[in-house]
Amino acid sequence: MLTSYDYSMARILDAAGIDVILVGDSAANVMAGYETTVPITLDQMIYHARSVTRGAKRALVVVDMPFGTYQGNPKEAINSAVRIMKETEADAIKIEGGEEIIDSVKRILCAGIPVMGHLGLTPQSIHKYGTYNVRAKETEEAEKLLRDAHLLEEAGCFAIVLEKIPAELATRVASELSIPIIGIGAGGGVDGQVLVAHDMLGITNEFSPRFLRRYASLHDVMTGAFQHYIEDVRNGDFPNSKEQY
Ligand code: KIV
Repeated sequence: MLTSYDYSMARILDAAGIDVILVGDSAANVMAGYETTVPITLDQMIYHARSVTRGAKRALVVVDMPFGTYQGNPKEAINSAVRIMKETEADAIKIEGGEEIIDSVKRILCAGIPVMGHLGLTPQSIHKYGTYNVRAKETEEAEKLLRDAHLLEEAGCFAIVLEKIPAELATRVASELSIPIIGIGAGGGVDGQVLVAHDMLGITNEFSPRFLRRYASLHDVMTGAFQHYIEDVRNGDFPNSKEQY
């Protein structure tokens, strides 16, 4: 699984053979430049998701429920999830949290909307925890995470993302549950992996957590191309006689 927030990236990912495209609320950071994922709205997520589904013909498209659209009560959650499904033509939604939001998860599932869970580091709770450090290192939090994972599976979630937790714990979750566990900073003992595409492509370069493998250095490639273009235009080299009508 990799993220996309727009049509062009979704087309490339889809053609490359990705299984799942996540329209993550990391769009708040990557697309809009916010420091956290908290500010992104449902309307903005729907805009991104609709652009992605136009480009993805084959991959499963999962859309993040943004902060404040499901925590209040199950009615608010179902209304938000229905808007995502009706207005974007996505395949499923993703939602952060365990026991605290289980009634919302069940209500969404009752409406026939597939739900992917998200446990461990849940960036929408940044103001509760204050850091993006590794989560569930202590026994109490690890046991809660395990309980939450079972709750989400029993409720009917089709997969769970585990973010930035010890690999040993993630492996245990994956071995105890039968639904796919998709890790980000959760080691190799899970069923699948997810990264933010802009991070793994090296478009963003200010963020280097240990779990991030960069598969390209597009920041440098793009900077070089932009500088080359600026130079060509300034020198009168672009456009040449073949590049005009
Ligand atoms: O919003 C996002 O990109 C995510 C992934 C990091 C899992 O939730």
